[in-house]
Amino acid sequence: TKNQMWGGRFEHGNTADVVRFNASIQFDQRLAKHDITGSLAHAKMLVKTKILSASEGQQIIAGLEALQEKLVAGQLEFSPDYEDIHMNIENLLKEEIGPVAGKLHTARSRNDQTATDMHLFMKDELASISALLKNLLQTLVNKADANVSTLMPGYTHLQHAQPISYAHYLLAYYEMFTRDLGRFQAAQKSADNSPLGAAALAGTTFPIDREYSAQELGFAAVYQNSIDAVSDRDYLLDFLSAAATLMMHLSRFCEEIIQWNSYEFGYLEISDQYATGSSIMPQKKNPDVAELIRGKTGRVYGDLFAMLTTLKGLPLAYDKDLQEDKEGVFDALDTVKDCTSLFTGMLAELQIKPEKMAASLTDDFSNATELADYLAAKGVPFRQAHAIVGQLVHYGMENHLPLQEMPLELLQKAAPQIKADVYADLAPENAVARRVSLGSTGFEQVRFQIQQAQQKLANN
Ligand code: ARG
Repeated sequence: TKNQMWGGRFEHGNTADVVRFNASIQFDQRLAKHDITGSLAHAKMLVKTKILSASEGQQIIAGLEALQEKLVAGQLEFSPDYEDIHMNIENLLKEEIGPVAGKLHTARSRNDQTATDMHLFMKDELASISALLKNLLQTLVNKADANVSTLMPGYTHLQHAQPISYAHYLLAYYEMFTRDLGRFQAAQKSADNSPLGAAALAGTTFPIDREYSAQELGFAAVYQNSIDAVSDRDYLLDFLSAAATLMMHLSRFCEEIIQWNSYEFGYLEISDQYATGSSIMPQKKNPDVAELIRGKTGRVYGDLFAMLTTLKGLPLAYDKDLQEDKEGVFDALDTVKDCTSLFTGMLAELQIKPEKMAASLTDDFSNATELADYLAAKGVPFRQAHAIVGQLVHYGMENHLPLQEMPLELLQKAAPQIKADVYADLAPENAVARRVSLGSTGFEQVRFQIQQAQQKLANN
C-alpha cells in the first residue's frame, strides 16, 4: 500500500523492508510528549495569526491535549506504518478529531518539527543531568569535609611523590565535575533555540509568528536562518562532547577506586551494595560497578564520533542521515545519567582506610622534597640541596632507613646546616600543613577550597 502521508506522487508502495528501514518510530517515540507540546504551540500560533479559525484551533488543541493525557496513561499505540513519531501523532489526532487534524501541518514540515522535538527534549534532559551532577558535587564536598586531615601519598607516574590530604585529592575531582556541569549548562543553552517555523528549509508563505511559538515553548531564542534551523545538530555535539568528557573523568576516578580497592593498595573498600561476587571463587568481591562505568566510557565516545561522522560532508539542508541523530544521543543520555547516579551512590558508601593510607607514608621517602626545601631555606642552592638529599635517599634505600629515622649526625655529615628541627619538617602531617600556596594541599588551603565549594553549591 502507498504511504498515506506522502504517497500521492507514487505509483507503488514501498517494500516491507524499506518501510521498516525508513521508520524511526521504534526509537523516536521517546519524543512523543515533546512532539505534542510542539504541536500545541504551533496550533496556538496558527490561531493567533488567523491562519486557522478559532474553532479549528480549538478542536486541534483539545485533540492534542487528549493525546497528551492518553500518552501519560500509556494508551497511545504507535505503528511503523506511520514511519515516525510526527506522523504517528498526526494520525492519532485524526482518529481523535477527524479530518480537521490535517490542518495542523500548515506552515510546518517534519524537518522543523523533528528539530523542535529534539531541542525541547534536550533542554529537559540536560536539566536532569545537571541536577545529578550537583548531587555528585555535594557528595564530593561532604566527603572532603570529613577527610581534611586524612593523609595519603600523592602520586606522579603512580610513584609516591609527596604527602597530600585525601580531601585535596577529592577536590581535584570536584573541580573536574564543576567544569563538566558548566559544559552541560552550555549545551543546554545551545539547545535553547527554536527551529519551529523554518518549515522544510526555506520558511513559509504563511504569516506565521515564530517568536510567539518559541515563547510558548519556553525557548530563549529563535534560529535566525531557516536552512541552519533544520540542519543544525551542533547542540547535540555540545551535549555529546560534554558527555564524553564527563565519562572520561568518571572513568579515571573509577580506575583509582579499582586500584585502591585492591589487596595491594588497600586504601579503601567498596561497600557490598556496589560490589559483586564470583560464581567460582568464594572469597571474591569485585568492583563491577566501577569497571562498568569505566567500560561504558567507550560507548559514549562512540556516540560522539558517530554523530560527528554522520554530519561530516552532509549537504544542506535536511538529509535523512539526520534521523541518525537520535539513537546515539539517547544512548549517551541513558549511560551518562546511570553512571553519574551510580557513581555518586558508590562514592557516598565508599569506606576509606585512613590507617592504611597513612602507613604507606612511613618508609616511602615521599618527604624527600621537605628535606631539600629545608636546606634551600637555609641558603643551600636548591639544585645542590636536591643532590645531597638524593644521596641520602640512596643510602636510606640500601639500608632500609627512612629519612626521619636517620640520626642527626648522619644527616649533618651530608649537610652541616641540618639541625634537630628538621625532624618536624619530615613528618607527613607537617609536609601537608606547611604548604601555604594557593590551591595547595595545605590544611588551611583545603579548608578554604571546601568553604568556597560549599558556598558555590548553596547558591546553585
Ligand atoms: N523522522 C525524521 C527524522 O527524524 C523526520 C523528518 C523527516 N523529513 C523528511 N524530509 N523525510 O529526521
